[in-house]
Amino acid sequence: MRFLHLSDVHVTADYRRHSLLRLGWRRWIALGELTFGGRARAFARAPETIGRILEDANALQVDHVILSGDLTAYALPEEFQGARSALGRWAEEPRRCTVIPGNHDRYTPGAHRTRRFEQSFGNLLVSDLPHVAVEEGFPFVRLLGERDAVIGLQSARVPYFPGLSYGVVGQKQRDALATLVRRPELEGRAVLVVVHHAPFGALGKPDRLLHGLVDAPELLALLPGERFGVLHGHIHQRYHFPATAHRPHIFGAGSSTEAGHEGYWLIETSGGRIGHFEKRSLAA
Ligand SMILES: [Fe+2]
Ligand SMILES: [Fe+2]
Repeated sequence: MRFLHLSDVHVTADYRRHSLLRLGWRRWIALGELTFGGRARAFARAPETIGRILEDANALQVDHVILSGDLTAYALPEEFQGARSALGRWAEEPRRCTVIPGNHDRYTPGAHRTRRFEQSFGNLLVSDLPHVAVEEGFPFVRLLGERDAVIGLQSARVPYFPGLSYGVVGQKQRDALATLVRRPELEGRAVLVVVHHAPFGALGKPDRLLHGLVDAPELLALLPGERFGVLHGHIHQRYHFPATAHRPHIFGAGSSTEAGHEGYWLIETSGGRIGHFEKRSLAA
């Protein structure tokens, strides 16, 4: 089965058109990053770039597209709508598309409370084993064909303060995952576990304290060997660490739409394990 993994597409509204009052204080802090930090420019073409990646998905006869969070810049409704429409018909088919929220999609308490991510992508949060979910529908699992499965986890929480962007899967979801991977329905399948935050940085060290995945070691220990992959985003660099007897393959998709760094992972499974994979850049 052929998977395309993209991440951190950051569809970004035109923030000059919004009143400061409506944006709220958390986004005021972000405005500096957007304007002086060059972020708005870097993601100005995000929807078109998503479209080009999905053209590749069609041309490469991809079976399933996985997007590991940070669909939006700062969780505005129009950004969710933009991401949803850029995904087009892929977003209509849970058997062919998996999407989880990132920290930017849970940027404000209001966005979380009003289930803004779920309003746009709730149809993709369905599970083939719904009773294993322990937290807001997570973990969910999709059993694909005879030999593959995708599991979605939630690591993104509303931060106490903007800029705090660490993530945590948490004991409840980890316990549910541990039980899930031992179930007979999962036996003999390649299992791709999608989580937003990164277990390792590009150099193979744990990510920064206030940016990383707090319970990465515990998560990785549940998924040993070549049957398993952890697919993440959050760090805007694209890299891979091979599986060992004690941990899964780890794929960081970086930001698939950031100007100058557009790209994704193509991951192939066969016979219930991860086989070939390829880091692909979009031609300029
Ligand atoms: Fe991001
Ligand atoms: Fe992120």
